[in-house]
Amino acid sequence: MKTTTISKLSEYVGEEVIINGWVYSIRNIGKIWFVILRDGTGLLQGVVVKGEATDHTFNMEQALNKEDSVSLRGFIKKEARSVGGYEMGVSEIKIIYPVSNEFPISPKEHGADFLMSNRHLWLRSKRQNAIMKIRHRVVKSIRDFFDNNDFILIDSPIFTSNAVEGTTNLFEVDYFERSAFLTQSGQLYQEAGATAFNKTYCFGPCFRAEKSKTRRHLTEFWMAEPEMAFVDLKENMIWAEELVAYVIKSVLQDCNKELSTLERDVEKLEKVIPPFPKITYKEAVEILNENGSSFTYGNDFGAPDETLLSAQFDKPVIIYNWPADIKAFYMKRDEIDSDLSLGMDMIAPEGFGEIVGGGQREESLDILIDRIRHHDLPLEPFKWYMDLRKYGSVPHSGFGLGLERTVAWICGTKHIRETIPFPRTMSRLEP
Ligand code: 4AD
Ligand code: MG
Repeated sequence: MKTTTISKLSEYVGEEVIINGWVYSIRNIGKIWFVILRDGTGLLQGVVVKGEATDHTFNMEQALNKEDSVSLRGFIKKEARSVGGYEMGVSEIKIIYPVSNEFPISPKEHGADFLMSNRHLWLRSKRQNAIMKIRHRVVKSIRDFFDNNDFILIDSPIFTSNAVEGTTNLFEVDYFERSAFLTQSGQLYQEAGATAFNKTYCFGPCFRAEKSKTRRHLTEFWMAEPEMAFVDLKENMIWAEELVAYVIKSVLQDCNKELSTLERDVEKLEKVIPPFPKITYKEAVEILNENGSSFTYGNDFGAPDETLLSAQFDKPVIIYNWPADIKAFYMKRDEIDSDLSLGMDMIAPEGFGEIVGGGQREESLDILIDRIRHHDLPLEPFKWYMDLRKYGSVPHSGFGLGLERTVAWICGTKHIRETIPFPRTMSRLEP
């Protein structure tokens, strides 16, 4: 007999099959009872009827518990009213392993901390399943976008000897007789990549010792970072909006079921079509002030500022030309106003915050050395990076897309901790 999965049931209508999974719930309506099976690919209602199932199976109802691992054998039929659109007329249920205690997560409300402590079990829930499947689709669409556009994957290292995004949130680790840092961003290595391959990207975990406990910060998160030779700020912004639009389109195309499980308002996502609005930092400050904020020019935007800005647009908004003082050492200065740097951030709609940070890089060796000194960074670990300016420097740009912030926005989930399988925050290292 054929063993299959719930996701493939359309191929087995009218046939008897075996499906392995876990008991999701049990319901009794007198002469027959129902078992909902979960197999990781979907949910299936099994109908257990006296005379159709073996007597042993029919009498199993009291013995079954949520999350017992089981094997169901039975005939498949189309049933529009059932979860998933199919139903199994159960012939036999075999218990693989019964649960040894009551499953800790029940349909009743649990606190966030309890659920996070049981993350290894919480991942089985319908909502978490939907979020992880969307994350999977987002990852694939990011890779497809770069691969389809002639970017070469160049993995950046995770152990580094230098800071990229300031020194206040570096994780330091023992590295034999010296210390190393966990990377905050793979960008600097992509700059080497772009001079070797023209267009490259990396996609991996980044680390920031964030002492903040906001719903937007993780200590370990994933970032996709393209870097492009001979590309200026303007073209960089177009690449960023094309990437984000492609990701949204792919999810809308393939994740209908998951978006509806999450009750996501897809009309809002359908509006995410290029071109996105692009405003300067100065214009953003004016918009904030016109809308009752007392934000002063020269500061970085906080979460409430980003929310207020995003409320003015129904697409992501790109903010460029930032005061150089609040941006990283590697940002290129504006040629007309040297107080400005050619950075750009993309803010997601609906208050989901910054999803992209990037810009055009400084290509002059002298200015770069000056900037590294100005930021009080040691020159030694950047020797290789400065070589990129010594040997054939070119205008180049890139950006980093934060995976979890993007998934949070697409799923409409307010807290970033639900968007990564096992979140790491200041207070959480387990499970
Ligand atoms: O704006 P950031 O710090 O930019 C960089 O690291 C650049 N070096 C990237 C580049 O140009 N190649 O980070 C980029 C994005 C943010 O917009 C945000 O989406 C995400 O990474 N991010 C975080 N996500 C979760 N938790 C954190 N602690 C994050 N810090 C940044
Ligand atoms: Mg940023």
